[in-house]
Amino acid sequence: MKSSRAISNKLIRDLMDEHEMILQALTVLRIVTERVEKRRPVELRDLQFLSRFLSDYADKIHHHAEEELLFDTLAEKSPRSIRRMMEQLTTQHVMGRFFVARITEAVAGVAGGERGWRRQFVGSAQSYDVLLTCHICSEDHNVFPAIDRLIDRHGLRTKSESQSMRKQKDRLEKALRRMALRYGDMVHSAENIHRCERNTTE
Ligand SMILES: [Fe+2]
Ligand SMILES: [Fe+2]
Repeated sequence: MKSSRAISNKLIRDLMDEHEMILQALTVLRIVTERVEKRRPVELRDLQFLSRFLSDYADKIHHHAEEELLFDTLAEKSPRSIRRMMEQLTTQHVMGRFFVARITEAVAGVAGGERGWRRQFVGSAQSYDVLLTCHICSEDHNVFPAIDRLIDRHGLRTKSESQSMRKQKDRLEKALRRMALRYGDMVHSAENIHRCERNTTE
């Protein structure tokens, strides 16, 4: 992961810190998905929390902040190459939203004893994992550094996340850390951490 300290803009640094939380959620999702696939016991509350975290934190808070506070603010000042990148990222947000809806639907199916929930959960979770891991890699290593330079060059101002959003974010981050702790060393094992190839500490 490129360090957020190398970035001047506070909003972008915050968004990159949120990526760390989302990547941690993806690691837990990977562990849970493997258990579901192998028909091992999984706590329903973990499935429910993961689907809520992906919907509320990754999508409603994080992707919303990227689109509303960053991309929309910069759209007019950006060269076409950066505008294209922002459009691609926004399309990937829509795809992510689709997979999260499928995950949420599958989790609701567990409680209702519906057939097929397992296959739907595994397929959607694996697709979401690949999509978001590549998406975050692209933002951290290509788009955000380019946008940060653009903001610097033109002396642009970006808005901040609202107080209520920050509070909700803190609550979800604490709950995620608590859940990750229950999975112990598995969360730090190399086989469960899938980072992009350009994961460095530059
Ligand atoms: Fe994004
Ligand atoms: Fe992001």
